[in-house]
Amino acid sequence: MYESLVEAAKKARHTAYCPYSHFAVGAALLAKDGRIFTGCNIENASFGATICAERVALGKAVSEGARAFAAIAIVSSAETKTPPCGICRQVLMEWMPQGDVVLWSKEEGICIEPLAQLLPGAFLQASMEGRKEE
Ligand code: THU
Repeated sequence: MYESLVEAAKKARHTAYCPYSHFAVGAALLAKDGRIFTGCNIENASFGATICAERVALGKAVSEGARAFAAIAIVSSAETKTPPCGICRQVLMEWMPQGDVVLWSKEEGICIEPLAQLLPGAFLQASMEGRKEE
């Protein structure tokens, strides 16, 4: 079902810029209109400025006008699956709360996890409803 998305993530991994961790990650984000946006991790000498592959893909997609997403595939250098970090879970939640996270690894093949399961009780726009003016 998500084979072509995983293939796009594998390809995106090859452009990763990861001279510090040597951990290359590729992501492919499937928009509900059928478009696929890819990303790779982009590291920085100031480590905290590093951007994960998932957020690179999302930034590309949103800047191209995509607004709704069905799934994101993630592929890394590891033998076992690479789950998205906490920041990426939060950022993805804004855009695909009902979406699937598709993790691929050599050892485990394709593993599908709903994003909502990876980030239960997420802080969302709705979480600010009913706020009082201070
Ligand atoms: N990384 C990602 O790009 N996505 C993930 O899901 C996990 C971590 C990157 C960030 C950093 O460049 C390297 O992997 C090691 O943390």
